[in-house]
Amino acid sequence: MIVIYPGSFDPVTYGHIDIIDRCSKKFSKVVVSVLNNRSKKNMFSIDERVKLLKEVLKEYDNVEIDTFSGLLVDYAKEKKCNKVIRGLRAVSDFEYEMQMALVNKKLDDEFETFFMVARGRYAYLSSSIVKEIATFGGNISCFVPKVVENAINEKIGGGY
Ligand code: COA
Repeated sequence: MIVIYPGSFDPVTYGHIDIIDRCSKKFSKVVVSVLNNRSKKNMFSIDERVKLLKEVLKEYDNVEIDTFSGLLVDYAKEKKCNKVIRGLRAVSDFEYEMQMALVNKKLDDEFETFFMVARGRYAYLSSSIVKEIATFGGNISCFVPKVVENAINEKIGGGY
């Protein structure tokens, strides 16, 4: 079974990697799909986000990195895969995720959303939190792999 794991990944954190790692063991293939969302102010360009994902996930043979724009249901149809994974970190995620799952189901009745509960130790993590800690000089090494940490610090140093 192939699943899509969509998100902004600006940038990828250990929380995302944990979900991808666990999915890679339960599904035959995981397509990690980076949303090209111009409305969100991203630290990293779409190419940079893809590059970081490829680097940190290079050891996974059954994980593919892709990009998409527009509606997730249309992208899923294009990929001939109507199953999507979303991580749930806390109850606060649930309302938004439920709304998205219901809207997507309304748009395409064949579309299915699977929720994977984030590990407790990552339940508080988000890409914005990591960027904020780094901006104020905090240590982010326990939240992101080294290559991502360096990329964030380079952006901050460059006056992001
Ligand atoms: N570990 C760590 N962080 C996690 C996480 C996890 N397991 N799961 C989510 N997050 C964080 C992300 O880092 C991100 O943090 P940020 O806001 O600080 O950047 C935040 O949670 C949001 O997660 P993300 O997965 O990037 O969601 P999103 O809301 O940006 O995008 C899409 C979700 C891509 C699935 C959705 O926007 C989409 O489908 N868009 C296409 C348009 C569409 O079809 N719309 C109709 C559907 S309603």
